Amino acid sequence: MDSEILRNVPLFSSLPDEKLEYISKILIPRKYTKDTLIVMENDEGDSLFIIREGRVKVTRYSDEGGEVILSILGDDDFFGEMSLLDGEARSANVVALEDTSVFILTRPDLYNLLESKPTIAIAMLEELATRIRRSDKYIKGLSLSDAETRVGMTLFNLSEQMGTIKNGEVTIEKVPYQQDIANMSGTTRETVSRMLKLLEDKHIIEKEGRRITIKDYSQFVKKFG
Ligand code: CMP
Repeated sequence: MDSEILRNVPLFSSLPDEKLEYISKILIPRKYTKDTLIVMENDEGDSLFIIREGRVKVTRYSDEGGEVILSILGDDDFFGEMSLLDGEARSANVVALEDTSVFILTRPDLYNLLESKPTIAIAMLEELATRIRRSDKYIKGLSLSDAETRVGMTLFNLSEQMGTIKNGEVTIEKVPYQQDIANMSGTTRETVSRMLKLLEDKHIIEKEGRRITIKDYSQFVKKFG
Protein backbone atom coordinates (compact mmCIF):
# COMPACT_ATOMS: atom_id res chain seq x y z
CA MET A 1 0.00 0.00 0.00
CA ASP A 2 1.16 3.53 -0.73
CA SER A 3 2.09 5.12 2.60
CA GLU A 4 1.16 8.58 1.22
CA ILE A 5 -2.52 7.60 1.54
CA LEU A 6 -1.99 7.56 5.30
CA ARG A 7 -0.82 11.15 5.34
CA ASN A 8 -4.44 12.35 5.18
CA VAL A 9 -5.55 10.18 8.07
CA PRO A 10 -5.67 12.52 11.11
CA LEU A 11 -4.49 9.72 13.43
CA PHE A 12 -1.25 9.41 11.49
CA SER A 13 -0.75 12.84 9.96
CA SER A 14 2.03 13.92 12.34
CA LEU A 15 4.21 10.88 11.76
CA PRO A 16 7.51 10.86 9.85
CA ASP A 17 7.77 9.00 6.52
CA GLU A 18 9.51 5.90 7.93
CA LYS A 19 6.76 5.37 10.47
CA LEU A 20 4.05 5.76 7.81
CA GLU A 21 5.91 3.24 5.70
CA TYR A 22 5.91 0.82 8.63
CA ILE A 23 2.20 1.38 9.36
CA SER A 24 1.29 0.89 5.71
CA LYS A 25 2.77 -2.63 6.02
CA ILE A 26 0.77 -3.67 9.08
CA LEU A 27 -2.64 -2.32 8.01
CA ILE A 28 -4.93 -4.87 6.39
CA PRO A 29 -7.07 -3.43 3.54
CA ARG A 30 -10.65 -4.68 3.18
CA LYS A 31 -13.76 -3.74 1.24
CA TYR A 32 -17.37 -3.98 2.33
CA THR A 33 -20.35 -3.58 0.05
CA LYS A 34 -23.24 -1.26 0.94
CA ASP A 35 -25.44 -2.52 3.82
CA THR A 36 -22.84 -4.98 5.16
CA LEU A 37 -22.73 -5.31 8.93
CA ILE A 38 -19.05 -4.63 9.67
CA VAL A 39 -19.17 -4.67 13.46
CA MET A 40 -21.91 -6.32 15.50
CA GLU A 41 -22.99 -5.09 18.92
CA ASN A 42 -21.96 -7.47 21.73
CA ASP A 43 -19.37 -9.32 19.64
CA GLU A 44 -15.87 -9.55 20.94
CA GLY A 45 -13.68 -6.86 19.39
CA ASP A 46 -10.21 -7.56 18.09
CA SER A 47 -9.61 -4.87 15.52
CA LEU A 48 -9.77 -1.17 14.79
CA PHE A 49 -11.06 0.08 11.44
CA ILE A 50 -9.98 3.21 9.60
CA ILE A 51 -12.22 4.29 6.72
CA ARG A 52 -10.23 4.82 3.58
CA GLU A 53 -13.24 5.64 1.45
CA GLY A 54 -16.95 5.36 2.11
CA ARG A 55 -19.45 5.88 4.89
CA VAL A 56 -20.80 3.88 7.79
CA LYS A 57 -23.51 4.35 10.38
CA VAL A 58 -23.07 3.49 14.04
CA THR A 59 -26.35 2.11 15.37
CA ARG A 60 -28.06 0.53 18.33
CA TYR A 61 -31.62 -0.69 18.73
CA SER A 62 -34.10 0.78 21.17
CA ASP A 63 -36.20 -1.51 23.38
CA GLU A 64 -39.04 -1.08 20.89
CA GLY A 65 -36.76 -2.36 18.14
CA GLY A 66 -36.27 0.98 16.37
CA GLU A 67 -32.84 1.81 15.00
CA VAL A 68 -31.05 4.68 16.71
CA ILE A 69 -28.16 6.14 14.74
CA LEU A 70 -25.44 7.34 17.08
CA SER A 71 -23.17 8.67 14.38
CA ILE A 72 -22.25 8.60 10.74
CA LEU A 73 -18.55 8.27 10.01
CA GLY A 74 -16.73 8.90 6.73
CA ASP A 75 -13.34 9.10 5.04
CA ASP A 76 -10.37 8.90 7.45
CA ASP A 77 -12.55 8.34 10.53
CA PHE A 78 -11.88 5.33 12.73
CA PHE A 79 -14.21 2.96 14.61
CA GLY A 80 -13.94 -0.20 16.69
CA GLU A 81 -11.48 1.37 19.13
CA MET A 82 -13.73 1.16 22.20
CA SER A 83 -13.71 -2.59 22.75
CA LEU A 84 -9.98 -2.69 22.01
CA LEU A 85 -9.31 -0.08 24.66
CA ASP A 86 -11.57 -1.32 27.46
CA GLY A 87 -11.77 -5.04 26.66
CA GLU A 88 -15.58 -5.01 26.71
CA ALA A 89 -17.84 -6.26 23.91
CA ARG A 90 -18.61 -4.11 20.85
CA SER A 91 -20.75 -1.19 22.00
CA ALA A 92 -22.76 -0.76 18.79
CA ASN A 93 -23.35 -2.04 15.27
CA VAL A 94 -21.47 -0.49 12.39
CA VAL A 95 -23.08 -0.85 8.95
CA ALA A 96 -21.75 0.28 5.56
CA LEU A 97 -24.00 3.03 4.14
CA GLU A 98 -22.24 2.72 0.80
CA ASP A 99 -19.43 0.57 -0.61
CA THR A 100 -16.66 1.21 1.89
CA SER A 101 -12.97 0.38 1.96
CA VAL A 102 -11.16 0.27 5.26
CA PHE A 103 -7.80 -0.45 6.80
CA ILE A 104 -7.83 -2.84 9.72
CA LEU A 105 -5.41 -2.70 12.61
CA THR A 106 -5.21 -5.61 15.05
CA ARG A 107 -5.21 -5.07 18.81
CA PRO A 108 -1.49 -5.90 19.35
CA ASP A 109 -0.50 -3.59 16.48
CA LEU A 110 -2.68 -0.78 17.86
CA TYR A 111 -1.18 -1.12 21.33
CA ASN A 112 2.35 -1.13 19.90
CA LEU A 113 1.61 2.05 17.98
CA LEU A 114 -0.06 3.80 20.92
CA GLU A 115 2.91 2.96 23.16
CA SER A 116 5.59 3.92 20.68
CA LYS A 117 3.89 7.01 19.21
CA PRO A 118 2.12 9.20 21.76
CA THR A 119 0.99 11.55 18.97
CA ILE A 120 -1.31 8.77 17.73
CA ALA A 121 -2.70 8.30 21.25
CA ILE A 122 -3.25 12.06 21.57
CA ALA A 123 -4.99 12.27 18.18
CA MET A 124 -7.24 9.40 19.22
CA LEU A 125 -8.04 11.03 22.57
CA GLU A 126 -8.90 14.30 20.83
CA GLU A 127 -11.31 12.51 18.55
CA LEU A 128 -12.86 10.60 21.46
CA ALA A 129 -13.36 13.88 23.35
CA THR A 130 -15.08 15.35 20.28
CA ARG A 131 -17.36 12.29 20.09
CA ILE A 132 -18.31 12.53 23.76
CA ARG A 133 -19.12 16.22 23.34
CA ARG A 134 -21.27 15.41 20.31
CA SER A 135 -23.04 12.62 22.20
CA ASP A 136 -23.65 14.88 25.23
CA LYS A 137 -25.22 17.49 22.96
CA TYR A 138 -27.24 14.84 21.17
CA ILE A 139 -28.66 13.50 24.45
CA LYS A 140 -29.52 17.00 25.62
CA GLY A 141 -31.12 17.77 22.26
CA LEU A 142 -33.21 14.60 22.27
CA SER A 143 -34.55 15.27 25.73
CA LEU A 144 -35.28 18.96 25.36
CA SER A 145 -36.19 19.87 21.85
CA ASP A 146 -39.14 19.81 19.56
CA ALA A 147 -38.90 17.85 16.31
CA GLU A 148 -37.86 20.85 14.17
CA THR A 149 -34.96 21.59 16.48
CA ARG A 150 -33.90 17.94 16.59
CA VAL A 151 -33.86 17.67 12.79
CA GLY A 152 -31.95 20.99 12.66
CA MET A 153 -29.44 19.67 15.19
CA THR A 154 -28.94 16.51 13.14
CA LEU A 155 -28.31 18.64 10.06
CA PHE A 156 -25.82 20.66 12.09
CA ASN A 157 -24.00 17.44 13.13
CA LEU A 158 -23.95 16.26 9.52
CA SER A 159 -22.65 19.63 8.36
CA GLU A 160 -19.82 19.40 10.88
CA GLN A 161 -18.96 15.87 9.90
CA MET A 162 -19.33 16.03 6.14
CA GLY A 163 -20.07 19.57 5.00
CA THR A 164 -17.92 21.95 2.96
CA ILE A 165 -18.10 25.68 3.57
CA LYS A 166 -17.94 28.33 0.86
CA ASN A 167 -18.99 31.98 1.06
CA GLY A 168 -20.86 31.47 4.30
CA GLU A 169 -22.89 28.55 2.90
CA VAL A 170 -22.35 24.93 3.86
CA THR A 171 -23.08 22.15 1.40
CA ILE A 172 -23.63 18.57 2.46
CA GLU A 173 -23.35 16.05 -0.37
CA LYS A 174 -24.91 12.61 -0.25
CA VAL A 175 -27.13 13.51 2.67
CA PRO A 176 -28.37 10.36 4.44
CA TYR A 177 -31.82 9.10 3.51
CA GLN A 178 -34.76 10.64 5.39
CA GLN A 179 -35.29 7.44 7.40
CA ASP A 180 -31.65 7.62 8.56
CA ILE A 181 -32.03 11.32 9.46
CA ALA A 182 -35.15 10.31 11.42
CA ASN A 183 -33.17 7.60 13.23
CA MET A 184 -30.54 10.20 14.10
CA SER A 185 -33.16 12.67 15.32
CA GLY A 186 -35.45 10.42 17.35
CA THR A 187 -38.38 11.12 15.08
CA THR A 188 -40.23 9.63 12.10
CA ARG A 189 -39.45 9.86 8.39
CA GLU A 190 -42.66 11.81 7.84
CA THR A 191 -41.61 14.40 10.43
CA VAL A 192 -38.16 14.73 8.80
CA SER A 193 -39.80 15.27 5.42
CA ARG A 194 -42.11 17.93 6.89
CA MET A 195 -39.28 19.64 8.77
CA LEU A 196 -36.97 19.74 5.76
CA LYS A 197 -39.80 21.30 3.75
CA LEU A 198 -40.34 23.85 6.53
CA LEU A 199 -36.64 24.74 6.63
CA GLU A 200 -36.72 25.06 2.84
CA ASP A 201 -39.81 27.30 2.92
CA LYS A 202 -38.05 29.52 5.45
CA HIS A 203 -35.05 29.69 3.06
CA ILE A 204 -32.82 28.27 5.78
CA ILE A 205 -31.80 25.38 3.54
CA GLU A 206 -31.89 24.52 -0.14
CA LYS A 207 -32.39 20.93 -1.26
CA GLU A 208 -31.43 19.39 -4.57
CA GLY A 209 -31.53 15.58 -4.77
CA ARG A 210 -29.27 14.35 -2.00
CA ARG A 211 -27.49 17.68 -1.61
CA ILE A 212 -28.48 20.15 1.08
CA THR A 213 -27.11 23.67 1.26
CA ILE A 214 -27.40 25.62 4.49
CA LYS A 215 -27.75 29.20 3.31
CA ASP A 216 -26.56 31.31 6.21
CA TYR A 217 -24.33 29.02 8.22
CA SER A 218 -23.50 31.40 11.06
CA GLN A 219 -27.23 31.93 11.71
CA PHE A 220 -27.83 28.21 11.47
CA VAL A 221 -25.08 27.49 14.04
CA LYS A 222 -26.66 30.02 16.43
CA LYS A 223 -30.00 28.24 16.13
CA PHE A 224 -28.96 24.57 16.04
CA GLY A 225 -25.26 24.32 16.93
P1 CMP B 1 -16.56 -0.64 19.50
O1 CMP B 1 -17.34 -0.60 20.75
O2 CMP B 1 -15.34 -1.50 19.49
O3 CMP B 1 -17.50 -1.11 18.30
C1 CMP B 1 -18.56 -0.22 17.90
C2 CMP B 1 -17.93 1.11 17.55
O4 CMP B 1 -18.84 2.14 17.24
C3 CMP B 1 -17.19 1.69 18.78
O5 CMP B 1 -16.11 0.84 19.12
C4 CMP B 1 -16.89 3.07 18.29
O6 CMP B 1 -15.81 3.08 17.39
C5 CMP B 1 -18.18 3.39 17.52
N1 CMP B 1 -19.09 4.19 18.37
C6 CMP B 1 -19.83 3.79 19.42
N2 CMP B 1 -20.54 4.82 19.93
C7 CMP B 1 -20.26 5.89 19.17
C8 CMP B 1 -20.69 7.27 19.17
N3 CMP B 1 -21.57 7.73 20.06
N4 CMP B 1 -20.18 8.10 18.23
C9 CMP B 1 -19.31 7.64 17.30
N5 CMP B 1 -18.87 6.37 17.25
C10 CMP B 1 -19.34 5.51 18.17
